[in-house]
Amino acid sequence: MQRVITYGTFDLLHYGHINLLKRAKEFGDYLIVALSTDEFNAGKGKKSYFPYEKRKQLLEALRYVDLVIPEETWEQKRSDVELYHIDHFVMGSDWKGKFDDLSDLCEVHYLPRTPEISTTKIKRDLKI
Ligand code: CTP
Repeated sequence: MQRVITYGTFDLLHYGHINLLKRAKEFGDYLIVALSTDEFNAGKGKKSYFPYEKRKQLLEALRYVDLVIPEETWEQKRSDVELYHIDHFVMGSDWKGKFDDLSDLCEVHYLPRTPEISTTKIKRDLKI
């Protein structure tokens, strides 16, 4: 059983998110998404369109996702990896190199982003 974890806000779920989750799942058998809480996002000056519980519900409906846990701090990654016995830590390439310190615990992967789509673009295009 190979366990995989990834992090993010996943607001206005779009095909870039789906591509990321599909590729993340391919590293193993069990995919955990640590989903940024509304409070954590507020601390970064970000506000999602869908609140945490709705974003969680959408992720839980996906075949690639086995468990959704809250992301509440920047520091929790190391303890998540230990607690959930993670083998593969996956992030989009926008974070390239940022979490290499975890490679003493698990394999760290940075996946290329899907071009030309983001939550920011959807919000901008729909003016929301
Ligand atoms: N992601 C991706 N391809 C995209 C958009 C996002 O692979 N086109 C990945 C990110 O790299 C991250 C995960 O999906 O690993 C969640 O990203 P998130 O920041 O929630 O989504 P964005 O669409 O990038 O949101 P924003 O525009 O608010 O930054």
